[in-house]
Amino acid sequence: MTIMKILTTKGSNPTIALKQFHRYLNTTNKLSLLNQIELAPPDKILGLTETFNNDVNPSKVNLTVGIYKDNHGKVTTFPSIAKAQKLIDRELGLNKNLSYLPIKGGKDYAENVKHFLYDESCSPTNNLIEGNRNNYGKQLLDNDRISFAQTLSGTGALAISAKFLALFISKKVWIPNFSWANHMNIFNKNGFRDIHYYSYYDVKSGQLTVDAWLKDLKEKVSKDKSPEPHCIILHACCHNPTGLDPTREDWDKIIDTINELKMIPIIDMAYQGLESGDLIKDAYLLRKCINPKYVWDNGLFLCQSFAKNMGLYGERVGSLSIVAPSHSQPRVKEAVDSQLKRIIRSIYSSPPGYGSRVASLVLSDPDLKSQWFKDVTVMVNRLQGIRDQLSSNLDWSTVNDSQQHGMFYFTRFPLPVVQELRDKYSLYLTDDGRLSLSGINDSNIEYICDTFKKIENQSK
Ligand code: LMR
Repeated sequence: MTIMKILTTKGSNPTIALKQFHRYLNTTNKLSLLNQIELAPPDKILGLTETFNNDVNPSKVNLTVGIYKDNHGKVTTFPSIAKAQKLIDRELGLNKNLSYLPIKGGKDYAENVKHFLYDESCSPTNNLIEGNRNNYGKQLLDNDRISFAQTLSGTGALAISAKFLALFISKKVWIPNFSWANHMNIFNKNGFRDIHYYSYYDVKSGQLTVDAWLKDLKEKVSKDKSPEPHCIILHACCHNPTGLDPTREDWDKIIDTINELKMIPIIDMAYQGLESGDLIKDAYLLRKCINPKYVWDNGLFLCQSFAKNMGLYGERVGSLSIVAPSHSQPRVKEAVDSQLKRIIRSIYSSPPGYGSRVASLVLSDPDLKSQWFKDVTVMVNRLQGIRDQLSSNLDWSTVNDSQQHGMFYFTRFPLPVVQELRDKYSLYLTDDGRLSLSGINDSNIEYICDTFKKIENQSK
């Protein structure tokens, strides 16, 4: 019986009709699988901006997402990027052809990005302090060992890696504890079934736990006798959220261990340049991993993004490279390339054009490039300035802030404090106690520091 029939049958008893109606609803509810879908939790980072936007408190401050803002709270375009945009639009006419890009992205973009990452960032002349004077990156390019795809920023690179790995190599991954909240989501939603956390940071002491990290891996990975290798996510620099990275000596031990355990490194390099202000210097983990003393039998994965270091957030500009080991046959790279194309085609066909043209121009024009290097330094200096201001206003030596770097400040506030800051003071941090430094400016720093002090005094 349809709803109309139930409700309009002549002389029907209204109570019975209502019961019938409810029964009808129950049956239809059961029939539709859509009705059984549970409400997903809001995104741990981007979801907070939605709550923030609905907050009517005029003192509210959004310190959640990692977007660089200037001292007026504005997301501005870097001078190098603005100049490139102008050139592209007005002089070079690069935007006249708005046809599809190839599945793995534009050829110029690929050449320029690969040159920047593997030649320039790994160049011996740029790398005198840290060994590796043989320019192994250039050799990888010359020997055609790198499968490369333009991706939708770092998230896209990670998601394509996860899909590729889950299809062909492994569904096991290790993620640092703590990590970017989306790492778990990406691997979980793209076929990974065996997701572990490795010890990274101890909240109590505010220190990295490299020994525990290595112990975790040695004990658990070496015990696994299945042929499926384990992947591991490594933050290249400016670890998100803690802002603390292993020392160069620590990295030696870490990379030795994961290589001995035949793990697959997935380097997430979203903040190149934001650690030291020097784009080249910050690629040290990449340089270390491509050293031929390490053979990565199942490939080395680099997921890289220009969102932060070029301020191209919404343009989704990044890349995935899969470096094949030196012992592999040329057909290996060909097969990897072809499968990457198939995966990308099944999701979004091909990447967007505009942002990648901007990035490509900046990377290929010496003047724009040198301006870009300066822009990154300006950004990093401002971030460091805010970090210093926080440190001097708050006596937070325990936070270890002198060792933190990058876009974020890790307060170590427990969740109830983070919630109180949000609910009572409209100060929005992520649940893990991370705050995005550039959301702080001259007009709100006093309010923020006063509130933090108030909260601290309460807990004494
Ligand atoms: C962040 O951690 O805030 C950024 O990486 C933005 C994002 O996508 O989460």
